Amino acid sequence: FVRRTVADWVCLAKHESSYNTGAINRNKDGSSDYGIFQINSKYWCYDGRTPGASNGCRINCSKFLDDNITDDIKCAKLIAQRARGLTPWVAWRNRCRGKDLRPYVKGC
Ligand SMILES: *[C@@H]1O[C@H](CO)[C@@H](O)[C@H](O)[C@H]1NC(C)=O
Ligand SMILES: *[C@@H]1O[C@H](CO)[C@@H](O)[C@H](O)[C@H]1NC(C)=O
Repeated sequence: FVRRTVADWVCLAKHESSYNTGAINRNKDGSSDYGIFQINSKYWCYDGRTPGASNGCRINCSKFLDDNITDDIKCAKLIAQRARGLTPWVAWRNRCRGKDLRPYVKGC
């Protein structure tokens, strides 16, 4: 992990969920986003109510809502790997990409 990468993830988590591991948000397409990284149920996790879902991380979306973010990180890394970056996250694109992210890792 380089510093820049950590700062990007912290910035992403701040603006996607305000660091709230229990965050759930519904999308217009019927899918929902879960947890600190707002992982989407259309492609990445199973919530039993998303039309045409594919569960890429092979996990129940409810696992992303607890305090243990090990599985969230694992899935988020897979998403970033597939996309070759953090572009799947709208909040990262709008609030973090190309910005000075030093404040997010102050004291690290
Ligand atoms: C997913 O987790 C929820 C909450 O723990 C549970 O109610 C549900 O049955 C689970 N679904 C599957 C398919 O395991
Ligand atoms: C967090 O979850 C992982 C599996 O996703 C597990 O291996 C680990 O022991 C858990 N950690 C804690 C502190 O419960």
